[in-house]
Amino acid sequence: MTQATVHVPLEDRAYDVRIAPGLIARAGAEITPLLNRPRVFVLTEERVAGLHLEALRAGLAAGGVSMDALVLPPGESTKSWPHFTRAVEWLLEQKVERKDIVVAFGGGVIGDLAGFAAAVLRRGVRFVQIPTSLLAQVDSSVGGKTGINSGLGKNLIGAFHQPSLVLADISVLGTLTPRDFLAGYGEVQKYGLLGDAAFFEWLEVNGPAMAAGDDALRLEAVRRSVQMKADIVERDETEQGDRALLNLGHTFCHALEAATGYSDRLLHGEGVAIGCALAFELSYRLGLVSQEEPSRVREHLAAMGMKKDLADIPGDLPDADGLLDLMGQDKKVVDGQLRFILARGIGAAFVTADVPGDAVKALLAESLCARR
Ligand code: GLY
Repeated sequence: MTQATVHVPLEDRAYDVRIAPGLIARAGAEITPLLNRPRVFVLTEERVAGLHLEALRAGLAAGGVSMDALVLPPGESTKSWPHFTRAVEWLLEQKVERKDIVVAFGGGVIGDLAGFAAAVLRRGVRFVQIPTSLLAQVDSSVGGKTGINSGLGKNLIGAFHQPSLVLADISVLGTLTPRDFLAGYGEVQKYGLLGDAAFFEWLEVNGPAMAAGDDALRLEAVRRSVQMKADIVERDETEQGDRALLNLGHTFCHALEAATGYSDRLLHGEGVAIGCALAFELSYRLGLVSQEEPSRVREHLAAMGMKKDLADIPGDLPDADGLLDLMGQDKKVVDGQLRFILARGIGAAFVTADVPGDAVKALLAESLCARR
């Protein structure tokens, strides 16, 4: 297979996710059917711009589409009010009209910020996601969650706003650092763990070759991840129920990201991988799975050369109480009760509020001890 399309069937908000090598080179032809006039407005960041912006300009021009671009600084701190304000005001200065298209060209930070800017600009304009990281291709560019961070936590300010098209160009994955690629892989393996044991087995066999650069395997991994996300988003667009399954590992991850200051000490996808391993360990301690399951999760992460527990995070961390406090900021708190995604097996995750705080605290305390 050299290309794939996953349809996200959301009535009047339905769209396609196209997955193939070389999509940036034909971006103009892909986007033109959506355009009212042959001009788009691109939000991107310095690293992506340095590597790919001229290729995007050429790909759009080949389809007769011109572009203007705002290049923001790279990194998580861009997902904040000051850069959001700058992006929205730049779009207004460009006289973006209601029927125009904003293009989010970058990883999760740019996708979330640009999507939120499109959601509020003139009470909502359409946008196209061209995700350039593995994490953005398999997760954040699909499903319409947009937003920025608050000083109190990640993604606390935002809106649901579905893109009109997603172009996941597999070729750009070759320009990621191995660390960034593997951080994105944290979200890929999550899909197998949460709902598709056969996909997890496929990853156990093919993950290392995929990480080493096999484009056909990369396309298949992105396709299966996006298909699973599309199926879940179709069932529960605004996270009233099943969509929370996508947050497997994220309650732990968000606390660890806050504890490490959203810094290079821990990338989001690395936190997701560690969080998944902790969620399976917690499931074991609560008698839901056998001891083999968390071991298998950790073994696969180790085989991929990934962080798999708290011992792999450099520098100091708060104690177990401190981490529990940080978990209290999670968006999955309902009536003050933390909700966790646990599992009854690999590929069989479920959402529950019925998790004794003592069990979580004991798990964190022991994992922290293993660091010393
Ligand atoms: N990244 C989780 C979600 O889109 O729901």
